[in-house]
This record gives sequence, C-alpha cells and structure tokens, in this order.
Amino acid sequence: MSTDRYVVIGNPIAHSKSPQIHAAFARQTGEAIAYERLLAPLDGFEDAVRTFIATGGRGASVTVPFKLEAFALADALSERATAAGAVNTLRFDRAGEQVNIVGDNTDGVGLVRDIMVNAGVAVSGARVLLLGAGGAARGVILPLLAESPAQLVIANRTLSRADALVAQFAGAAQTLPAVPAVLSAARFESLDGNFDLIINATSASLSSELPPIPASVFGSGSFAYDMMYGAQPTLFMQMAAQAGAGVRDGLGMLVEQAAESFFVWRGVRPQTMPVYRELRAQLAAAG
Ligand code: ATR
Repeated sequence: MSTDRYVVIGNPIAHSKSPQIHAAFARQTGEAIAYERLLAPLDGFEDAVRTFIATGGRGASVTVPFKLEAFALADALSERATAAGAVNTLRFDRAGEQVNIVGDNTDGVGLVRDIMVNAGVAVSGARVLLLGAGGAARGVILPLLAESPAQLVIANRTLSRADALVAQFAGAAQTLPAVPAVLSAARFESLDGNFDLIINATSASLSSELPPIPASVFGSGSFAYDMMYGAQPTLFMQMAAQAGAGVRDGLGMLVEQAAESFFVWRGVRPQTMPVYRELRAQLAAAG
C-alpha cells in the first residue's frame, strides 16, 4: 500500500501539534498517510504548496498566517470556506496531469462539535454571545447559525467589524431564513443580561488580556468557551468561572477541526476523545 503525504503549512510551524494528532488518527483508522510540518517563507506560501503538489502531496492543513492566501489559491471552495473567507484545509484532487486544489474550512465545525458533542452544551435555542470579529470569529458564524440559536450577538472592540459580519451573514441567509432576526452586533460595554453560551474568538488571551465585557454576561447556567488553550485557564475562563459559569478551552476544537480535515481527505472519521486526552495530559505535564 502506498503512503499518501500531507503537511501542515505555517510560519512559525515548529510547535504545531497537528502531526501528532494526524499520526494518532492514522494509527487508529489504519489509513496509510504520512503527515509532516512544512515551514513556508512568509512570502512563499504558493511556491511551497505547488512544490508539495509537484512531489506528490495529497493535501495540507494551513495555519497562521496563510489561511487567507490558501483561500485565494484554491480552485474550488466549500460553502463553509466561502463563508469563513479563509481556508485551513487543502485537498489536491488529481485527474491525470490536472490537479484541482479544493479549499475547505473545518474550524467552525470543530468548535461546534466540541461544544455540542464533547461538552454536551446545546446551541439550538441558546442565546449565544460571540466575542471578536476577526478571522477566528468569522469562521464559526455559519456553523453556529446552522444549529438554530435563539440569538447570536457578535460583540467587538471595533463595532464596524461586527456590523460588517452581521451584514455579510444576514445577506447569506437564504438557506437559513430566521437569521436576520437572530443576528446582531454590539459593543462589549453595552452588553446587557446574561447568555447561555459565550465564545471568546478574540486574540486577547494571547497577550494575557481580557475583552472588556461586563461580568453580568455570565450566569450560573452559562457556558464559556475560549478558542485559545494552554496549561492554565485563560483570564476569560477565570472570569467566567468566578461568575459561576461552566468553562472550556479550545484544545477540543483543535482536535475536532483536525478530525474533520482527516475526513475531508480520507472519508473516514477518527475518534477524537483518545487524542484529546493524550494532548491534555501532555499540556498539564508541561505546565
Ligand atoms: P483572528 O484571526 O485571530 O481572529 P484578527 O483577525 O486579527 O485575528 O482578529 C482579532 C480579534 O481579536 C479582533 O476581533 C480584535 O478586535 P478589533 O477588531 O477591535 O481589533 C480582537 N482583539 C484583539 N486583542 C483584543 C483585546 N485586547 N481586547 C479585545 N479584543 C481584542
């Protein structure tokens, strides 16, 4: 059996956990794949992809800072990649000499699956608050809306970016007719009352900061999700826990988006829980 080759492309890339995750998926499913890190120069993403294709590569994960370039490079895009405006998964479909580069985005589905399946928290009917209006936020809006929340409020430091997302997704609402009534934009400071589900998609945790949200957004029945993860709970998670909310970091999202990418490439769905546990134990040991 020949081994199909995949890479994760980014800059920097040395600390990516994706090779470990996909190696575990391959062992578990018996799929014959090799998966490695590929450091692309900041101005050399397309060259790196085309060279990898020329040497037989079958697909790639794409991470910071190349998700927009991957979007631009793809010959065809999935609906969720189009909505996200970014691509984290490339598949190279071959027909003779022709190679069709298919761009997909599995981040949003990964988040929603981690919340619903792994944490057991409902999105359907929930009042959802999404913090942030950058790439990470944009990528999760369509998968969240697809679960029919009662409300989805997008709050951002720069209100105009939240307004732009609301306009984009309200306009794309033909398939989800209730969306215009569900979706709205807000400033952090003007948030009023509590929410069932609060998702931190800002990059504030990276710099040990906290979006300036009132503590009243968290109630004792709330569930707070930070897309970042680490050995210790983020400031956002600490604030939510103090207010009595359930909390979860983004490690499960990382594993779930990888599993969805694996499915896009191989048509096989790996089990995520054993891999999640392995990564969590490593994080705890390192912290
Ligand atoms: P990403 O791809 O990670 O989403 P991005 O597109 O640069 O990165 O977006 C970062 C998001 O985090 C934005 O919503 C940003 O708010 P602005 O649009 O107002 O810049 C938000 N953000 C970053 N640092 C923040 C902080 N300290 N407090 C609140 N929001 C922050």
